[in-house]
Amino acid sequence: MKSIIVSMVAAAGLMVAGSALAADMPDLAKKSNCTACHAIDKKVVGPSWKDISKKYKGDASAKAKLATKIVKGGSGVWGAMPMPANPKIDEAGAMILVDFIYSLPD
Ligand code: HEC
Repeated sequence: MKSIIVSMVAAAGLMVAGSALAADMPDLAKKSNCTACHAIDKKVVGPSWKDISKKYKGDASAKAKLATKIVKGGSGVWGAMPMPANPKIDEAGAMILVDFIYSLPD
């Protein structure tokens, strides 16, 4: 299990490097429908991922909390609009997306 996570993180690293340059979402984000509500650099239904990145970048300890929120949903941080739960994604997948968000340049 541990090695699966390690290789997923390594693969995410590669994916992130390519995606960040293209300023594009990882495939996982597209597959998981994040793009229905989020864009990299503009607000859609949810906050832009660059704004999320700016808010949390200095706080590595927020990563786990954000990953849980991606899976379970939640509201009240950016406004009244809630983010629904994303049951198709697990914490490890959510962490890949959080890492991508953290990797975005300001
Ligand atoms: C139906 C619309 C919708 C979808 C789909 C959605 N989000 Fe969100 N997302 C939101 C909204 C609205 C917020 C703001 C919630 C708040 O104010 O607490 C948000 C907030 C967030 C945050 C910041 C949370 C915080 O506490 O600051 C992250 C990270 C995030 N989304 C990632 C994702 C990822 C990754 C996916 C795909 C798996 C996704 N979202 C799918 C609407 C959505």
